[in-house]
Amino acid sequence: MLGLTLGTTDNYMTEIEKVLTEDGSHTLFNSGVGEHYHSIHGAIQESMHVFIRAGFSLASDRFDNLSVLEVGFGTGLNALLTLEASTQLKIRTFYTAYEPFPLSLDIASGLNYTETDLLIGHSSDFVTMHKAADGELMKINPWFSFRKYLCKLQSGLSPESAFNLVYFDAFSPEVEPELWTPDIFQMIRENMTTGGVLVTYSARGEVRRILQSSGFRVERLPGPPGKREMLRATAI
Ligand SMILES: C[S@@+](CC[C@H](N)C(=O)[O-])C[C@H]1O[C@@H](n2cnc3c(N)ncnc32)[C@H](O)[C@@H]1O
Repeated sequence: MLGLTLGTTDNYMTEIEKVLTEDGSHTLFNSGVGEHYHSIHGAIQESMHVFIRAGFSLASDRFDNLSVLEVGFGTGLNALLTLEASTQLKIRTFYTAYEPFPLSLDIASGLNYTETDLLIGHSSDFVTMHKAADGELMKINPWFSFRKYLCKLQSGLSPESAFNLVYFDAFSPEVEPELWTPDIFQMIRENMTTGGVLVTYSARGEVRRILQSSGFRVERLPGPPGKREMLRATAI
């Protein structure tokens, strides 16, 4: 693993270190939180498995257009993979991300995602998404529109939201228990369409039970390499 100390996020007084994961893509280690942003077994591999294959693919079978909520924009990898999938498959996608601790452009532009075969050609889109001002709607291409709110999810969702795909990609329940609560999942459910899909890398029994009591039917799916299981929930 390559470790390189890069600095801090804009608002987080903590060290951010760039790490090369086993599939050759970068992730970051946040020393204040003590966690990586992705699996060290492969950042792109994990995001493709949990968010694109288990989430985006099912939601795009169920709905003509997608309205995606991401909890924790972070490096922007999930957004970038979703931009690529929606463009290739011609699925109109409106993406809304929440991120209270945005990375500096220096850190973001040092990540190697747009040098990979899968994401090559998206480097200016990647910068555009990182530079987007709070709440600014950006039409990245005819298939993919993007908006990022620079605040905590706990600040609330706008009343007209009707998400049909949710990427719940916060830091773990151990370090951010305030995000994995019945109140948070009920708020998300109230802002989703019935049949909408929520995916998360966590497979904790407590998370599964909270989802079930918040209006979701929950499945345990095989996890990405290095992780036995993940959760996928359908809004009922
Ligand atoms: C596991 S990392 C995210 C990975 C990200 N999806 C990516 O592809 O890089 C968790 C992210 O959640 C953000 N976060 C922390 N507290 C949050 C909150 N209260 N609401 C929304 N996001 C939060 C962190 O700053 C971090 O960027």
